[in-house]
Amino acid sequence: MIYNLDEYLRQPLKIGSKSIEKRLVLAPLTILGNIAFRELLSQYGGYGLLFSEMCSAKTVPHENRFVSPCFRWRDEERSQLVCQIFGADPLEMAKAARRIESEGLFGVDINFGCSNTTICRRNYGAALLKDPDLATAIVAAVREAVSFPLTVKFRIGWRDDPAIAVRLAKRFEDAGADALIFHPRVAPDRRSRPPKWAYIGMVKRAVNIPVFGNGDVFDRDDCRRMIQETECDGVALGRMAVARPWIFAELTENMLIGPQMFMDAAIRLARLLAVHYDPVAAIKRFKRFAFYFSANFCFGHTLYSRILKAGDMKAVDTILKQFFEQAPDISSRPNMNYFS
Ligand SMILES: Cc1cc2nc3c(=O)[nH]c(=O)nc-3n(C[C@H](O)[C@H](O)[C@H](O)COP(=O)(O)O)c2cc1C
Repeated sequence: MIYNLDEYLRQPLKIGSKSIEKRLVLAPLTILGNIAFRELLSQYGGYGLLFSEMCSAKTVPHENRFVSPCFRWRDEERSQLVCQIFGADPLEMAKAARRIESEGLFGVDINFGCSNTTICRRNYGAALLKDPDLATAIVAAVREAVSFPLTVKFRIGWRDDPAIAVRLAKRFEDAGADALIFHPRVAPDRRSRPPKWAYIGMVKRAVNIPVFGNGDVFDRDDCRRMIQETECDGVALGRMAVARPWIFAELTENMLIGPQMFMDAAIRLARLLAVHYDPVAAIKRFKRFAFYFSANFCFGHTLYSRILKAGDMKAVDTILKQFFEQAPDISSRPNMNYFS
């Protein structure tokens, strides 16, 4: 029984050769988990690790970190940043991991969780769960190439059978993974049905490395319940971190939250995006963020549709100020109709 969630989440956790201070981490989010968003998160703090957007193993060895849209970071976040890579060639994945280790990041994560059709068509991401031998060979090749922490993010597989997930988890552990991030949905499920948290418990009991549970944790009670029901070692938050970027500090440090934080966070992110990206890339990223952020408000779709029409960040700033002038009603949980 967890009486004190924040105290529990503040217990250090060993991952391979390193350790993290908090058991709540940012899940990898393509486009959304960009350098500017992570800088916003760093202003609130409260997390143990941040996962990057997924990066192609093919390009990582040649990327210029000051120009690349996703393979980039601020020096200050290096020690808490895990770079996620996708690919299907063990040697290519190993080479990418070596580059990441040489940059001094916390670790590397292998993406066996993305079920997006463009990714799976190329046999990347969750597609590799159909070929456990190849997936395991990738983990083993990366393990041989690097000594810093290696994590694997994966789903149940392509059939709803917990035995598949348990077998995969054991194989990833045997191949050298230092921790697992498990999102208990079958690969074809695009977050339409609830994740099967019970499977997280089965995976946790089957391995001796830390397991982070992931999927549909939207508030303190969800987080407590996931840990209690599954005994997972930590929790990875995806969409909720986008909707409420202070959630890590709220859950691990009991940060007090006021209504003004919503406008403040959105305006700060707009400014950070403008610092890190050119105007086109910045507005594209803000629009993706606005999809999840707007779900916080009753009638949030009015905010989202106005932001979608914004031509530049100046327009975004005006829209945000007008919207918050009306003191919008904030829902206790984001509206799930707008939160897919
Ligand atoms: C917009 C979006 C982008 C995502 N991008 C990635 C990704 O690049 N790599 C990955 O492993 N998972 C990705 N995911 C899955 C999340 O990491 C996470 O597993 C999923 O959102 C469930 O967690 P949540 O309920 O806390 O959001 C993405 C999810 C969303 C909604």
